[in-house]
Amino acid sequence: MHSMHEDSKIRNRPETSGATLHRASRYDLHTSLMGLGVNGRNSRMVVEMAKIKPGDKVLDVGCGTGSLTLTAGNCAGVSSSACGIDASPEMIDVAREKANRSGCETFFEVGLIEKIAYPDATFDVVISRLVIHHLPDDLKRRGFTEIYRVLKPGGHFFLADFKPPANLFLIHVASAVFGHRMMMQSNVEAIPPMLRETGFVEVISGPTRSAFLAFVSGKKPTS
Ligand SMILES: C[S@@+](CC[C@H](N)C(=O)[O-])C[C@H]1O[C@@H](n2cnc3c(N)ncnc32)[C@H](O)[C@@H]1O
Repeated sequence: MHSMHEDSKIRNRPETSGATLHRASRYDLHTSLMGLGVNGRNSRMVVEMAKIKPGDKVLDVGCGTGSLTLTAGNCAGVSSSACGIDASPEMIDVAREKANRSGCETFFEVGLIEKIAYPDATFDVVISRLVIHHLPDDLKRRGFTEIYRVLKPGGHFFLADFKPPANLFLIHVASAVFGHRMMMQSNVEAIPPMLRETGFVEVISGPTRSAFLAFVSGKKPTS
């Protein structure tokens, strides 16, 4: 599924050292077959854990085909908006089609976590699912700095990403399903210190209801 940097001139794909995905039309099907459930229950779980409230202005970074963004937009309600950015124009095309069909007020733009094209202090909540393991460490840090910048004072960041399961049997199952590299290159434990270095406070991390996902969250101080 990964198609890193292949012909980045096609369709004005922005240059990034993150691993971008371009086979967008098959992404939802593939992730359902892989048991990731990124389209339904899992999106609702992330939105609930991220404590998104009606009226919140939400940014979904690395939104892919937009399932999580649309769920967040439904929760945030018509008085506000949810936006999704992704490095892959193909993913954004699919996300826009899904938004048109759903009638949910969401905005999707091609964009990079390391160069977010929104002004300072725009969002109440920034969310990101299954993206951080696509980024080398220096890009993670640049991305967190950008997320901090676009959050309003008092706003918060919530991410969910792969964690290798504790049980050895499940590690083998997960490696067979998701790929050993993908499971192992996701190092969620390294993220809380990076968020604190960026300036986030109240940084917490822990498991989710999914055996394969952990979360990390942090708040931008009010002053
Ligand atoms: C596994 S997908 C997750 C998509 C979506 N968040 C979900 O939960 O279904 C990872 C996404 O990160 C995107 N991505 C990779 N590098 C990026 C970057 N530097 N900036 C923004 N998005 C990036 C990829 O194109 C891909 O759509």
